[in-house]
This record gives sequence, structure tokens and C-alpha cells, in this order.
Amino acid sequence: MGMTKIMFVCLGNICRSPMAEFIFKDIVARRGAADRFVIASSATSTAEIWNGIGNSVHPHAKAELAKHGLSCGGKRAVQLKKSDYDKYDLFIGMDSANIRDILRIFGGDPAGKVHKLMDYTDRGGDVADPWYTERFDVAYRDIFEGCTALLDAVLKRDRQ
Ligand code: 4NP
Repeated sequence: MGMTKIMFVCLGNICRSPMAEFIFKDIVARRGAADRFVIASSATSTAEIWNGIGNSVHPHAKAELAKHGLSCGGKRAVQLKKSDYDKYDLFIGMDSANIRDILRIFGGDPAGKVHKLMDYTDRGGDVADPWYTERFDVAYRDIFEGCTALLDAVLKRDRQ
């Protein structure tokens, strides 16, 4: 069975995509599948990167992760690069604007690698940006649901 390399992507890489990175890492570890994945996260913008140095995870995102026993270590924001396209199998955006921006950075998606997280669930839609809504609990709930469905889809694909 091969490695699956997943890049979670949002606008700033300080709220939703780092939450997804560390939630997904925890889910795969609990399922005993950590060694089958490379998991990272990045931003479509440079809003949280100053002179090449990315900001840390938003304190409220960090607190929400901690509430669920998760740590986000020394994660700092980085921007998604065109050269990442060949290095990962899946690019998982949090909302429709992310998908548009990811496709702009890559100049297309010839291998069909770009997907929206909540499209793996039955309800679809966007992960609302808690940077604006301040609902980090809602973001956690949606991201956990999306990540669980994403893992199921990847494992099912690997069995085929
Ligand atoms: P994120 O949230 O995309 O979930 O990391 C945001 C973080 C920063 C900004 C916007 C959204 N910003 O404009 O700086």
C-alpha cells in the first residue's frame, strides 16, 4: 500500500488548514495508519507571512485543538507553491474561494487533485472562516467531520 500525501489549504494557514492538519494527523494515528500519510497545510495568501516568516497558529485555534487534547507544535504559516502540485496527491481546500485560489496558483488541476473538504461529507458546503465568525468550535466540528469522511474515502480507494 502506497503513501498518500495530503496538503490542507486555507486563506491564511493560521486557523482552518492547521486545524485540519492536526485533526487529520490524530485521526490517522488513532487508526494505526500514521505511517501511510504525509500531512501538511498551507495558505493561498501571504496575509500571515512576514519577510518569509509565517505566523503561529491563531491562539483560539490552538485553544480549540487543546480542548480536544491536540497540540499543533511549532506550526507556522507557509504559502502554497506551484511546485507543490507534483509533491502531494490531494489538495484539500476549506471553502470555494480556496479552491479558486488553489487552481490559480497551480494554473489548473490536470490530475484531479484539488477538492473541498466538506464535499467528502453528505452535506457539502464550506468550512466557515473562524477568523471572521469567531466560531472555532463550529470550525472544529466541521473539520473533524470532513477529515473523518476524507480518511474513509482514501482508505476505500486504497482497497480497490
Ligand atoms: P484561515 O483564516 O484562512 O482559516 O487561516 C484566516 C486567517 C487570516 C486571514 C484570513 C483568514 N487574514 O486575512 O489575515
